[in-house]
Amino acid sequence: MSWMEWITISHSMFVNLPVGVAILLPWALIASQRAGRGIRPWWVTCRYLGWAGVLSSFLAAFSGYLYARSLGMIPLGAYLTPKGAYPLMREHQALMLASLGLGLLFLKSAFRKREEYQSFGVLPLILGLLWSAAILVGGWHGNTFAARAQGKIKPAAIPVETPAPKPQPLAVPQAAISQDPETKLPLRLLDYQSLEPIQLDPIRSAAHGNRWIRVWVNAVAAEAYRAGVSLPAGSFVAMNSLEDRWGRPGPEPGPLYGLEIKSDGTPLLTFYWAKVSEKGLAETKGENRVYWRENNPGLQACMSCHSQGMVPASQRNRIFKKKPSSSEGPLG
Ligand code: HEC
Repeated sequence: MSWMEWITISHSMFVNLPVGVAILLPWALIASQRAGRGIRPWWVTCRYLGWAGVLSSFLAAFSGYLYARSLGMIPLGAYLTPKGAYPLMREHQALMLASLGLGLLFLKSAFRKREEYQSFGVLPLILGLLWSAAILVGGWHGNTFAARAQGKIKPAAIPVETPAPKPQPLAVPQAAISQDPETKLPLRLLDYQSLEPIQLDPIRSAAHGNRWIRVWVNAVAAEAYRAGVSLPAGSFVAMNSLEDRWGRPGPEPGPLYGLEIKSDGTPLLTFYWAKVSEKGLAETKGENRVYWRENNPGLQACMSCHSQGMVPASQRNRIFKKKPSSSEGPLG
């Protein structure tokens, strides 16, 4: 991995520094307001925090820019996410840029000349408080955005449009069944990129061989999936995967997983792997290419978790337990 790549993927680590400064600085600023002998160490503390905050903010801003770029959220030739494209992201970026400016202004006022016994002053206090607030509110926006992108919380602000499921033609002529276009290839599953992604980044799934997965849903499934309730008939969920390499998504593709809810509510699983990886051979009993669908015995193992279709919310891969939906509100 190159340095640039490392900086790109470490945004969520770098941002901890400015946030820490934003939490610590206000107290030091308040303490430094007293006038009198012995106040100087508090000025030094404020100045030190100021420098730490500004330098780490630059690092965080740079890595954030590279990261958003790598996720395709900032188009070529632009420096910010376009208006309206990703709600919250634009606010995050605007607040963080404002905080950089406030940080520089704070440093300027912090290094103004003072006499040993003087208070640190009201101007750096106000600038420092504004700066800290911008970092905390902006950071909160970024964090909320990331949590939503991971599917950990349901977006309250983005209305999920669920067009009424189109009535499926039920009476399929017998001839059409024998010519099921999906006998050889799972065509809809392979076309998963036309669906709506739930996660922006792959997440690790212990339930599926520790691979890195992303889930994609059709319009019928989107709302129920995000809410973690059982999927309505007509839902189609695809999950692509990458093999793990050194604790990160590696270059080797894993299987494609599919879940469909039939009109009578029963789930239909699919497992397709065009070229089974070395690691995967144990799972496919040595077969190099697998396409399991309908009653294939290979899918038996999946049923221990997926007998109801979607795995119940309580057993899912979440860092935070879902709160009841009445608690959505301030997040929007
Ligand atoms: C140990 C339990 C378990 C087994 C076995 C399992 N899964 Fe899953 N599956 C899950 C969980 C939990 C999720 C939610 C994503 C996550 O947390 O990894 C999931 C997600 C999925 C999804 C995306 C839809 C959803 O419910 O989120 C599909 C499709 C899927 N699995 C297919 C399969 C197939 C096909 C197999 C068999 C080859 C399989 N799973 C085996 C637990 C399991």
